[in-house]
Amino acid sequence: MNALLLYCRAGFEQECAQEIVDQVYALGIEGEAEALGGGGAVLFTPESAQAMARLRKHVRYDELAFARQLVFVFAHVELSGRDRAGPIAEAAARHGPYAAVWAEAADTETGKPVAAFARKFEPHLVKALEAREVKCDARRAPRLHVFFPDSGEAWLGVSDLDNGSPWPMGIPRLRFPREAPSRSTMKLAEAFHAFLGHDDQQRLLKQGLRAVDLGAAPGGWSWQLANRGIKVTAVDNGAMDRKLLADYPVTHVRDDGFRYRPAKPVDWMVCDMVESPSRIAQLVGKWLAQGWCRQCIFNLKLPMKRRYEELQRCRAILDAALAQTDAPFRLHFKQLYHDREEVTGYLCREG
Ligand SMILES: C[S@@+](CC[C@H](N)C(=O)[O-])C[C@H]1O[C@@H](n2cnc3c(N)ncnc32)[C@H](O)[C@@H]1O
Repeated sequence: MNALLLYCRAGFEQECAQEIVDQVYALGIEGEAEALGGGGAVLFTPESAQAMARLRKHVRYDELAFARQLVFVFAHVELSGRDRAGPIAEAAARHGPYAAVWAEAADTETGKPVAAFARKFEPHLVKALEAREVKCDARRAPRLHVFFPDSGEAWLGVSDLDNGSPWPMGIPRLRFPREAPSRSTMKLAEAFHAFLGHDDQQRLLKQGLRAVDLGAAPGGWSWQLANRGIKVTAVDNGAMDRKLLADYPVTHVRDDGFRYRPAKPVDWMVCDMVESPSRIAQLVGKWLAQGWCRQCIFNLKLPMKRRYEELQRCRAILDAALAQTDAPFRLHFKQLYHDREEVTGYLCREG
């Protein structure tokens, strides 16, 4: 069995499938992608099994907006008897050692009881693997994923430590900070983890930097920045949280986010305005191309239909805006766990 397994937000299987087919087609590889079972996961099967080595080398998790996890599948196991750990350990043993062993299920309503079963099953599987002398906490090995569409079958595969989500089921465990003025704060907190490695977070989110937050009210995103000592100009015609303005380095400017210009270039621009995605993409492209900010995190609220095409349109708008400058840029999109009908973008000027 040779395939790619991608976890995604329930309801976004079609976008996730379109995206992986497009990505591998660019590598000269064809195949079919289908939603698995009750949703929340997509299986891509290449036409030729020989393609797997190239897929493992070239498909990048960072470049997939709709995938929460990227698993290279090596087996499918039907589970009929009472012993589930034995047959799975048998199939997984020859691909070890592993850095971690994760038994997972889809993040859907029907997946909830399966996820509860998977959590309980995981230590039994580790025991069964260790009994076969397979290390399950090796430092440089890939992670083993055992994905249960239901408790009667499992897809087995690996994810590479530098090419996948570091969270089980691709879902970050982040605490909601009670001081933050809105739940939206979780999106920016997650975006920092998704787009910036540990060192970049230390370097790029520190005291003394300056940021502009477009569409800031009531202030959940501003809080994430200001809580790290970053001076924030919060642009919104709506009301900001008063405690945020009193206790943190946040200045409220009542203005239209499409008209506002910073007096001096800033380190960050973040944008959570509810607007058409292409208008936001144009605005973000302008901020970076004009040098008004060095980097940007922004949310694109996707339409009900043709969401993948809309995202591609926004990429093209940004590419066109940035092509007018000589500076190299890095652009990534991810549908974060805390995103709903939306994706989050990260654009930064390199060097
Ligand atoms: C989803 S809310 C932002 C929530 C915010 N990120 C937080 O964490 O609390 C969207 C905000 O965008 C603002 N907005 C929409 N269009 C705007 C515009 N053209 N200029 C400025 N703000 C705008 C709205 O007033 C609203 O407060």
